[in-house]
Amino acid sequence: MYWFIVALYALHVISAIVWFGGGLTGVLITGPALQRASAGARGEVSFHLGALAHKVYPVAGTMTIVLGVVLALLGGRVSSLEGLATPYGITVIVALILAVGVWTWGEFVIGPAMQRMQKAQPADRPSLLSRALKYVALEQFGFLAVFGCMVLMRFGV
Ligand code: HEM
Repeated sequence: MYWFIVALYALHVISAIVWFGGGLTGVLITGPALQRASAGARGEVSFHLGALAHKVYPVAGTMTIVLGVVLALLGGRVSSLEGLATPYGITVIVALILAVGVWTWGEFVIGPAMQRMQKAQPADRPSLLSRALKYVALEQFGFLAVFGCMVLMRFGV
């Protein structure tokens, strides 16, 4: 059982790195690069970025959340209702609500905004791209809040 929890933990952190790391990279690197690119390059690259992101992020997000819940339940500290009423248990619940919120924002706000940008006329793409990037930037606040919960949980709170 010990090595199973170690594997769960490792898979949880790797999928979280892909999901959260991808959002940060979008805000700090790929987004600004797309805004500086020529219209032709922006159109072509953002199409492929969007198509791949739409495949990778929902899977990484779902894995992060499901593995996180299983890790919390099997980790021993929230495997009962009493455990859920402890500071650690409350942090797990807050992390779950926030993470599901971030997942929903990605799927139903950022995804469609990126698709609108890709389908738009080249002249309309810059403004639609900057709106989509604003949504990605807002998403990072959600990620940071969940990450804060992880740090608290690391120290038993
Ligand atoms: C954006 C979403 C998330 C990210 C980026 C994330 C990231 C992380 C990281 C980096 C760790 C390792 C912390 C350390 O050991 O120092 C961790 C641990 C953990 N995560 Fe998450 N996580 C996320 C969502 C969740 C959710 C939704 C749950 C459960 C509801 C969860 C449950 C856990 C648990 C139980 C641990 C082990 C903490 C411990 O007791 O040491 N995570 N997570």
